[in-house]
Amino acid sequence: MKTFIWVTSILLFSVLAACSYGPDSPKGFSLPEGNVAKGEKVFMKYQCLACHAMKGYEDSSLIKEFDTPVPLGGTSAVVKTYAQLVTSVINPSHKLAPRSHFNEEKVTNQDGSSKMRIFNDLMTVQELIDLVAFLQPKYDVKPITYTHYGQYRML
Ligand code: HEC
Repeated sequence: MKTFIWVTSILLFSVLAACSYGPDSPKGFSLPEGNVAKGEKVFMKYQCLACHAMKGYEDSSLIKEFDTPVPLGGTSAVVKTYAQLVTSVINPSHKLAPRSHFNEEKVTNQDGSSKMRIFNDLMTVQELIDLVAFLQPKYDVKPITYTHYGQYRML
C-alpha cells in the first residue's frame, strides 16, 4: 500500500509539474485586437516589401534589398505561432528556426543578427497591434485568444 501511495504521488507530481508555467512561458501574452485595414496601411508605410514578398502586394516604388525577397505568409514560413509572428517583427534576430531555405542569400549580418530593419523606435504599439492583425491571417498560425477585461471596457 505504501508503495502504491508513493507511486501515485510521484505520478501526480510529474503531471502537475508538466502543467506548471515557468516565468518564461508565453502564457498570459495578449495583445488587444487589431484593425486589419489599418494594419495593411502600416505594412505599406514601413515598406516591408523592400525585403519581403507577399501574395497580392507589390510596391514598385521601392528599391529591393534582396534579389529573392523573403516571403511572408503561407505555410512554409518559419513563423508557426502568433507569438513567433510578433517576435519576428519586434525582435527579428531572435532565432525561431534554422533559416536554411534563405541561405542562398545572406539574410543575416556577420555577427549573426538579422538584416531585417528594426522598427521598434519608429512603430507605435498600436501600429504593431494592427500590423500583426493584418499579417496573422496570411499565416497558418492559430490566433491568440484575446483577454477580455469585461469591466474595464468602455465600449
Ligand atoms: C531590410 C530588410 C527588411 C525589411 C525592411 C523588413 N524585413 Fe522582415 N525580414 C527580413 C529578413 C532578412 C527576414 C528573414 C531572416 C530573419 O528573420 O532574420 C525577415 C523576416 C521576417 C518575418 C518572419 C518571416 C517568416 O515568415 O518566417 C516577418 C513576419 C517579417 N520579417 C515581417 C516584416 C514586416 C512586417 C516588415 C515591415 C514592418 C518587415 N519585415 C520589414 C528583412 C526585412
